[in-house]
Amino acid sequence: MTKIFVTGGAGFIGSAFIHQVLAETEDVEIINFDALTYAGNPENLKYLDATRHRFVKGDICDKEAVLQSLPDDCEAIFNFAAESHVDRSISSASEFVTTNVLGTQVLLDCARAKNARRFVQISTDEVMGSLPESDDAFFTEDSPLRPNSPYSASKAAAEHFVRAARETFGLDTVITRCGNNYGARQFPEKLIPLMISNAMHDEPLPVYGDGKNVRDWIYVEDHARAVWLAYKNGKAGEIYNVGARNERKNIEVVKAILDALNKPHSLIKYVTDRPGHDRRYAIEASKTERELNWNPSVSWEEGLQKTIDWYRENQDWVNNIRNGAYREYYQKMYGASLK
Ligand code: NAD
Ligand code: DAU
Repeated sequence: MTKIFVTGGAGFIGSAFIHQVLAETEDVEIINFDALTYAGNPENLKYLDATRHRFVKGDICDKEAVLQSLPDDCEAIFNFAAESHVDRSISSASEFVTTNVLGTQVLLDCARAKNARRFVQISTDEVMGSLPESDDAFFTEDSPLRPNSPYSASKAAAEHFVRAARETFGLDTVITRCGNNYGARQFPEKLIPLMISNAMHDEPLPVYGDGKNVRDWIYVEDHARAVWLAYKNGKAGEIYNVGARNERKNIEVVKAILDALNKPHSLIKYVTDRPGHDRRYAIEASKTERELNWNPSVSWEEGLQKTIDWYRENQDWVNNIRNGAYREYYQKMYGASLK
């Protein structure tokens, strides 16, 4: 059995990764180390093969706890654990520095202490800042780091520590930088699940600013496969951009969701813009396609329909969140109460 250590595996992308790896391999055993913050949800781990998946509740900043759970013969560490929401980082940045920066450094130290063979850092295109609206500007692996939010600054800092561990200590590291993910089990603070969930409840859909900010969307399972291939085929010390060439204006995304749910566009409500709101992300992923032998396989139309279907069929999952601490978050963030 090949043992891998996955952090943040109870969250959106980490859980998609674990479901996929267990379904597509027979000889991989996963230790899933997650603190179960507001974004971590044990429901996301239902139906996993318990003989090859072990869940450990723990904080990546807690070195002793990590060392206790990290096996001596660990093949790879996949660091998905993070504070991941830009708006929360604007309200309060310190948790982002703690988990995303300090937590990553603790994991790097533990990887060295236990001789883990490879360290895969799940990063984001947001570390490269914002692009102009012209169609010919893209993020490449050589784009300068210009993070604009506390969230992206913390992810950029984490990347620097990963690089330093490679350069100083020779740790085998790979970094992936993906664009905006969508799919099943995404916490409804993020654009797509928030809009689906509000539309299903006939509540206003809050669009920031003029709604023309552009994001480059990728179906979560395509991202998960790229992370696996970065571990399998990536070269030590390299960075791989992950994107599906699927740029959309926010307002187009919101209208597509309303149309798919047969709800009126009058539910759209333009609200005050996010401070420091990045205008456009667009990823050039040809290095990843070529070197990792990866290609996205789910089209936007198919992925969005699958996502909407999942939220329709899993209303208990959404309502459990909407009935908890999320209500307070929503009230504070949007100045409106959920029904
Ligand atoms: P998420 O917020 O859904 O999940 C984060 C998970 O990390 C949760 O399960 C949470 O409990 C866990 N966690 C948080 N702090 C922890 C700590 N201190 N110790 C252990 N576990 C902790 O996030 P996501 O959207 O699944 O993102 C996963 C990773 O992918 C993050 O590193 C994020 O920066 C990166 N990423 C996300 C996107 C996206 O579109 N969502 C795109 C590119 C990269
Ligand atoms: O690009 C990758 C990043 O994508 C990840 O690293 C982050 O973890 C992830 O949260 C995401 O960041 P964004 O800020 O792009 O995602 P979010 O879903 O918060 O917002 C997407 C766009 O929609 C953005 O332009 C802001 C806008 N928006 C968002 C919300 C929540 C709205 O207009 N209204 C909203 O209510």
